[in-house]
Amino acid sequence: MRSFLLRSALKRGAIRSFSSESAPERKVAILGAAGGIGQPLALLMKLNPLVSTLSLYDIMGTPGVAADVSHINTRAQVAGFVGDDQLGDALKGADVVIIPAGVPRKPGMTRDDLFNINAGIVKGLCTAIAKHCPGALVNMISNPVNSTVPIAAEVFKKAGTYDEKKLFGVTTLDVVRAKTFYAGKAKVPVESVNVPVVGGHAGITILPLFSQATPATNALGAEDITALTKRTQDGGTEVVEAKAGKGSATLSMAYAGAVFADACLKGLNGVPDVVECSFVQSTVTELPFFASKVRLGKNGVEEVLGLGPLSDFEKEGLEALKPELKASIEKGIKFANEN
Ligand code: NAI
Repeated sequence: MRSFLLRSALKRGAIRSFSSESAPERKVAILGAAGGIGQPLALLMKLNPLVSTLSLYDIMGTPGVAADVSHINTRAQVAGFVGDDQLGDALKGADVVIIPAGVPRKPGMTRDDLFNINAGIVKGLCTAIAKHCPGALVNMISNPVNSTVPIAAEVFKKAGTYDEKKLFGVTTLDVVRAKTFYAGKAKVPVESVNVPVVGGHAGITILPLFSQATPATNALGAEDITALTKRTQDGGTEVVEAKAGKGSATLSMAYAGAVFADACLKGLNGVPDVVECSFVQSTVTELPFFASKVRLGKNGVEEVLGLGPLSDFEKEGLEALKPELKASIEKGIKFANEN
């Protein structure tokens, strides 16, 4: 009898934890959904009870991914869309569009080496977003994020749909890495760690603010902080090299993308105090786009938060990253206006 009661209580609990009765309808579209990031991201978004419709778009392979993911017994209704002709239907009514479309790095490549291919892909997809779901929050994963976000902004400006509160470069993986690496070095439980990461999303433009990490620790010296900073900045390259030609981070990126999209959905649904780092239009520095903590709300960005107090090491890092970040932003704007 007791075990029956326990089982039914567990069952009721499980049902409650997946309950979607109070969550509003939300459509999430993933563009590039059949790729290395797209597939696990589709899985994670299918598990998110805030999603009512999950739209999976790619230039190939999405019918299979959609059929597979659709069998999971969670709330989201899943549909696959393939090829240009179906892009409009994939996007129509979307609240959040996540873009992991494009080519990833191979060993020896920088994120900027991807520019020539990915800039065109992002431009095309953003043109379609402006037409079919101009009010959606756009989560840009495609690299180089430092340039693809400015490209998206220019495309939306030209279409007359730009809302700076709704365009996000996804830098969550840098935060995820900074948390993991810090927890390992400081020997604190990783679930309790917070580390803001600011700047951009490539090499030295990634600036983790370990001086603001919580829980704070006295256990780390200057050398440790330098090493942690470098490891966070090179985290992507660590994975690219380990995968030896088979792409870049996909599983950890899918996790990070799902965390960020979940934060966007919570913000849209009116959950208070949802704060994540993201690369957004910004006045935090003199650069027009910059990653920092952002409060998310019903219209996307509710507030771009400042940098807070920086250590001398971080102040140096901030000055050092500006020329590269500025050049990447300008490269994106130039591409969007010339092509
Ligand atoms: P992948 O090559 O495995 O998948 C990319 C997918 O995009 C493929 O399925 C491909 O068919 C699709 N695609 C290409 N052109 C398309 C178009 N016009 N419309 C829709 N889909 C299109 O690559 P992966 O590993 O999934 O990486 C995707 C992107 O994410 C890369 O640009 C990579 O650099 C970036 N990335 C970003 C990270 C970040 O922290 N923001 C971290 C890791 C990767």
